Amino acid sequence: MEKFHPIKIGTLSLKNNLIAAPMAGLSALPYRVLAMEMGCALAMSEMVSAEGTIRAGEKTKRYFKNDESVRPFGLQVFGANPESIGKSIEMLSSEPVDLFDINMGCPVHKVCKKGAGAALMKNPELVSKIVAAARKATEKPLTIKIRAGWNSKSINCIEIAKIAESCGADAVAIHARTREQEFSGKADWSHIAAVKSALKIPVIGNGDIKSRHDALEMIEQTRCDAIMIGRAAIGNPWIFRAILDSDFSEPGRKERLLTATRHLEMLREFLGEHSAALAMRSIISWYTKGIPGVKEFMRNIQRSKGTAEMKSLIDQFAANI
Ligand SMILES: Cc1cc2nc3c(=O)[nH]c(=O)nc-3n(C[C@H](O)[C@H](O)[C@H](O)COP(=O)(O)O)c2cc1C
Repeated sequence: MEKFHPIKIGTLSLKNNLIAAPMAGLSALPYRVLAMEMGCALAMSEMVSAEGTIRAGEKTKRYFKNDESVRPFGLQVFGANPESIGKSIEMLSSEPVDLFDINMGCPVHKVCKKGAGAALMKNPELVSKIVAAARKATEKPLTIKIRAGWNSKSINCIEIAKIAESCGADAVAIHARTREQEFSGKADWSHIAAVKSALKIPVIGNGDIKSRHDALEMIEQTRCDAIMIGRAAIGNPWIFRAILDSDFSEPGRKERLLTATRHLEMLREFLGEHSAALAMRSIISWYTKGIPGVKEFMRNIQRSKGTAEMKSLIDQFAANI
């Protein structure tokens, strides 16, 4: 059977089963524009605080700002209070959002200590209240993103996924690591397979896909309905095309640098000069990985005074390779 195919999540039809993962600090609009251009069917926002969206300060609004060219758009919220999550999703339902996701996998202490993110894996009762509140708040497709469990002694992804399904979630994404692992070790895809066997709604597999081969393997091994790609897409939006097309040839260095410049320009337009320069200082290293002379280039980038100087450094670097 063809591994890459259109799927439906609730009422949302996706042209294929490749999804760009939510990544805080990275999956802002420019990243999503590039990921969608390269063929993924759905690009997720970074996680946005439910409480923050209710207060709706300008900074929070930026997180869910989108562009018509980047549809469908999935917005991820995090929080531990069912009422706030319901209220925030209800408010955001009038925005051009095509799917809501609830974060139940963030390992960061600041998030978990408030009972949100991966800490929800320890609280099945709260998961059911949160999903029910979110379901009541919107008719738009609703998903949750979980981990395998809190730690290796408490693997409970099947239990949590089934609760979500029974409370009306339209799909479950699972990053096949525990919270304890954070990003270390290997994702254990057998958890994705186990969740897939237990659910009727679509299951989105996530963790350690770096190539077309990995993507095919995950689908083969787990029978998951869709795959979600995170780190391998940072500075490498071509991964989606490479997964979909076995004949795709990797972009050359100049093309990578040209795309980095586009990313920088979109960031400046989207975030403003200061935040764009800050964000690009780390993102650029992903675009330039392995290019000879990158160490000196990166030193100059770190010392640069703003996006205009960064752009000319990228141009110079491209001219000399
Ligand atoms: C820098 C960074 C930020 C992330 N932010 C989020 C987030 O906001 N919400 C979320 O659900 N997962 C977040 N993740 C986790 C990814 O979505 C994904 O589950 C994880 O990286 C595993 O997939 P991968 O092996 O394809 O990277 C983040 C990961 C990274 C590396």
